[in-house]
Amino acid sequence: TSQQLWTGRFTEATDQFVEAFTASEHFDRRLYRQDIRGSMAHARMLADAGVLTEPERDSILAGLAEIEQEIAQGDFPWSPALEDVHMNIEQRLTDRIGDAGKKLHTGRSRNDQIATDVRLYLREAIDAITAELLRFQRGLVELADREADTIIPGFTHLQVAQPLSFGHHMLAWYEMLVRDQERMEDCQRRLNVMPLGSAALAGTSYPIDRAMTCAELGFDRPSDNSLDSVSDRDFAMEFTAAAAILLTHTSRMAEEMILWTSPMFDFVDLPDRFCTGSSIMPQKKNPDVAEIVRGKTARVNGHLVGLLTLMKSQPLAYNRDNQEDKEPLFDTVDTVLDVLRAFADMVPAMEPKRDNMFAAAKKGFSTATDLADYLVRKGVPFRDAHAIVGAAVRHGVEQGVDLADMDLATLQGFSDAIGEDVYEVLTLEGSLAARDHIGGTAPAQVRTQVRKARERLERD
Ligand code: ARG
Repeated sequence: TSQQLWTGRFTEATDQFVEAFTASEHFDRRLYRQDIRGSMAHARMLADAGVLTEPERDSILAGLAEIEQEIAQGDFPWSPALEDVHMNIEQRLTDRIGDAGKKLHTGRSRNDQIATDVRLYLREAIDAITAELLRFQRGLVELADREADTIIPGFTHLQVAQPLSFGHHMLAWYEMLVRDQERMEDCQRRLNVMPLGSAALAGTSYPIDRAMTCAELGFDRPSDNSLDSVSDRDFAMEFTAAAAILLTHTSRMAEEMILWTSPMFDFVDLPDRFCTGSSIMPQKKNPDVAEIVRGKTARVNGHLVGLLTLMKSQPLAYNRDNQEDKEPLFDTVDTVLDVLRAFADMVPAMEPKRDNMFAAAKKGFSTATDLADYLVRKGVPFRDAHAIVGAAVRHGVEQGVDLADMDLATLQGFSDAIGEDVYEVLTLEGSLAARDHIGGTAPAQVRTQVRKARERLERD
């Protein structure tokens, strides 16, 4: 077939399998809007530079606008023989408007074209991701506000450590998402540099005006080195790294929710609409959404390693290897958006089982540190206090009795520094309220952090 745009130096048609093997139109067609937008800017610039006539420009712009419609409506005749989104659109343009279409590619290469398209695409994708991140953050902050006084055991090594405000726990998740958002925005800032005008690798001999295309396409500046900008895929690796970290966070949240919904914990209930049943066990209500979120992390981690491996050892400048960056990149965007959507909907709808959480926090000697701190306030050195409380806990484990349920004489058997007032520090509420400093779990501090978060979210 001679649909191809480079027939000149070839004496035979491309092998059928090679044509299919090298084609990318079936996945890079996703970039059609960005590709057309870039082509329109390029055509306007070429006309201003006197490379195209105004009628040629207008006919190109009109033709591209029609093609955009055609693609959006699903009427476009995609052809793998035309390899990729760029050549499919260019050939269609020429079919529609004639010779002017053949002039569009003047002073341009697919190498700067694809780099520009992908940057435009990712810039928009990051906007969409940021919007979902904000929605998720808002949901967590509202949940934290409602549950500031709810007590959950805090764990280290998955052993009961100290009681926490459940709101504090939700705000810990919020903090992770704030950093994810910052990483995304930072990545977006760095990728917003325009490769267009670099042509194949060395620039072009036409009097192009890169400042003009740059302004039209909303980039911060044109790139400073043509060779680097056609071969650079840092933005793809960086975005995927930020995505992998984000999904690491959602995976950790998923893990906690899966534990919490297990009858062994029984800390929270998830609304039925976010759960599924079993085909055999009638009693089951499974946290599949959280499990799938946890599983999605694996695929994005895979994409990150894939992209890093794709780029290592590539000599400058453009190599066709780079075509392999699209599918992992697109899948990363889709996966991140799906995960954020699922969790932004589900997590704030989680129903804490307050009594169960409270009972669990009471069970694990979670106020032992409070007792040690009490002894320190009575003049006992901390290391001695630690040993005294350790002995009291051992007694409690042996007798099956909590610290707060031991009578005063028993407690005084461990240290005569202990007085009546000890019971105030042994309560879960007392333990929380005592941690009343910036970043502490006291409900008053949680509310302060909620206010701070709301102010931030209103600004964004
Ligand atoms: N499909 C190619 C890619 O995804 C577009 C650039 C092709 N350039 C080339 N010289 N073959 O990277």
